[in-house]
Amino acid sequence: MGQQNSQIPKNMKILMVCLGNICRSPLAEGIMQHKINEQGLKWEVDSAGTGSWHVGELPDRRSIAIGRKYGVDITYQRARQFKPHDLENFDLVLAMDSSNYQDIIRHAVSKEQAEKVHLIMNFVSPGRNEAVPDPYWDDDGFEQVFRMLDEACDRIIEHYEVRV
Ligand code: 4NP
Repeated sequence: MGQQNSQIPKNMKILMVCLGNICRSPLAEGIMQHKINEQGLKWEVDSAGTGSWHVGELPDRRSIAIGRKYGVDITYQRARQFKPHDLENFDLVLAMDSSNYQDIIRHAVSKEQAEKVHLIMNFVSPGRNEAVPDPYWDDDGFEQVFRMLDEACDRIIEHYEVRV
C-alpha cells in the first residue's frame, strides 16, 4: 500500500466483506474490534457478505471456536448482506478474495467509492492480490484464516493510525 493517507478520518469506519458473512469476515470484524478496544482507537468496524444465504445467522461455530481460542468473541454478530450504500457509509471496504472484490466494486458509482475497496491481504503483501481462503468446506482452514486476518489487522492499524 502507499503512504499513510491523511484523508482517512480519525473515526475511520471499516467494513469487512466475504461471501457468506459467517466464516471469514466475522473473524475479521472481531479481530479488528478486539484491537480497536485494546488500543483505544476511535474506529468502527462491521462486516457483511455478498450473498444472502446466511442473513440473520450467528457466525459459523468453527469461526466462533477459533476466535474463542484466541480471546476474540464474535457471538454478538449476525450475518447481513452487503448493500451498495455501504460504499457511501464506510471509509474502507475490505474484501477477503477477488470474487468478493469484484462483487463489491461493480457497485461503485464514483472513483472515490472505488478507491475505498481493497483486498485485505494487500495490506500484508502489497500488490500480490492474495486471497483469504474460504474455509467453509475445510475444518482445518480456520487456524490459517485467523492468523492471516490477525496480521492483516495489525498492518491496517499501522498503515492508517492517526497519531495525535
Ligand atoms: P465465508 O464462507 O464467505 O467466509 O462466510 C462461506 C460461508 C458460506 C458459504 C460459502 C462461504 N456458502 O456457500 O453457504
